[in-house]
Amino acid sequence: MQNKFYITTPIYYVNAKPHIGHAYTTIAADVLARFQKLQGKEVFFLTGTDEHGLKIQKQAEKEGKDPQQFVDDVSVGFKMLWKDLNIDYTNFIRTTDENHIKAVQKVLQTLKNKGAIYKGTYSGLYCVGCEQFKSENELIDGKCPDHNLVPEKMEEECWLLNLSGVQDKLIEKIESDEFEIAPARYKNEILSFLKNQPLKDVSISRKNVKWGIPLPFEPEQTTYVWIDAFLNYLTGLGWDGDENNLPEKWPVDVQLIGKDILRVHATIWPAILLNLGIEKLPKLLFTHGHILSGGKKMSKTLGNVIGIDEMIEKFGVDGTRYLLLSAGPFGYDIDVTMERMIEKYNADLANGLGNLVSRIIKLSEDAEIKFEKINFNKAIEKKIEKNNSYFLKGIMESVAINLGLEHVWVIIEEDNKFINDTKPWELKRTDEGKFKEVMSKLLSDLNLISEFLAPFMPETAEKIKTALETKKAGILFQRIR
Ligand code: MSP
Repeated sequence: MQNKFYITTPIYYVNAKPHIGHAYTTIAADVLARFQKLQGKEVFFLTGTDEHGLKIQKQAEKEGKDPQQFVDDVSVGFKMLWKDLNIDYTNFIRTTDENHIKAVQKVLQTLKNKGAIYKGTYSGLYCVGCEQFKSENELIDGKCPDHNLVPEKMEEECWLLNLSGVQDKLIEKIESDEFEIAPARYKNEILSFLKNQPLKDVSISRKNVKWGIPLPFEPEQTTYVWIDAFLNYLTGLGWDGDENNLPEKWPVDVQLIGKDILRVHATIWPAILLNLGIEKLPKLLFTHGHILSGGKKMSKTLGNVIGIDEMIEKFGVDGTRYLLLSAGPFGYDIDVTMERMIEKYNADLANGLGNLVSRIIKLSEDAEIKFEKINFNKAIEKKIEKNNSYFLKGIMESVAINLGLEHVWVIIEEDNKFINDTKPWELKRTDEGKFKEVMSKLLSDLNLISEFLAPFMPETAEKIKTALETKKAGILFQRIR
């Protein structure tokens, strides 16, 4: 399929409500999906929830709930948030979906038939937060640095998947960018990891976890939650588990993930595919950083948690989308504080964009002015004078989402200054010809801005388009005091 674009987010654990980090990835994926859709691509955008495993089993127990009821409740919360944030996904997969479970079982049977998995024992230190075994050198003061937890010593009988057998092939595919890992420093990190040691075979089943998909050939064991989870990227397309009959949307074009789940996505996930005989790996695995608050990981104890609902309430949907994506370079850790976000909201949205729209519309309200209307495809190929070497299409193809927004704000700032300098309200009285010339440039720019903003801030883009047609603009972004 030539004209397709398939993009995924990680599927989110339902042990707790969605937070700002989940929103960050999902908004970014939505922007990339919309960007392709607006170019006429047939887009499939998959997101969903990861609902099995020990972490979730324990949380359900703690809350005294039946696990199925528990995951149903939390999963709905994710769906509701995506609706609030205007996330236009194609499918929302849940790993407790019947067809997903069946496909996972079929895959496990295939792996067994192919001799890719074997019975053995696995012992190691298990972090329930990560749902992963950790090696000693990954721990800091004996604790998992991501979850601040002392991992449990575990030894159990299980089924193991061969990883070392596909290692050379994997290295080759990563080196040649057939399976591209970006940003480049992550590609290098993974390559040096893969080249420095043989990959340890990974346990794909759990004996003592009840809340999981039973192995078809040994139902007392359940499927290790990460194996179950990875397969969502195929079952979410409706795949039934037959490796000889892959969905036409495969391979996936872009997989967005956070840096904490890079290693597993760059090793176990492609190893499952290669062991199944699926040679087409994801085209691009793009890793973003974490959102920090005041330089630290958000935590209730530190009292620096910024709630996503709180953000939507304060800044609106498009305000939230803008503030999260523009907070720093996509691919690096970014730091947000409420104070700085309010400042940025007032500067960029209320005073910057909002002010520009209302000034232009007001000034042109009772005048007949011709201006250039450019469509999305043309707009994204247009180089912006002040930002000479850049055009939006190039920026977005390298997944530099924050730079995409900066690109738009170059015009916004330039035009606000242009209005101050040319003073069209005076020209209106003194020089009609010049007035029309100035306003024509401004209206053309506003049209261009509305095209640019469509994937990032869909409602705002629509409002600007309507304002251009009706010559009426309400207040787009109310200043926050
Ligand atoms: N269920 C697994 C993923 C399975 S995908 C086959 C998982 N879930 S998670 O809910 O813990 O995390 C999902 C995503 O949220 C990860 O990409 C993670 O990096 C991201 N984030 C979690 N906290 C974050 C921030 N504070 N900032 C940005 N992203 C963060 O892992």
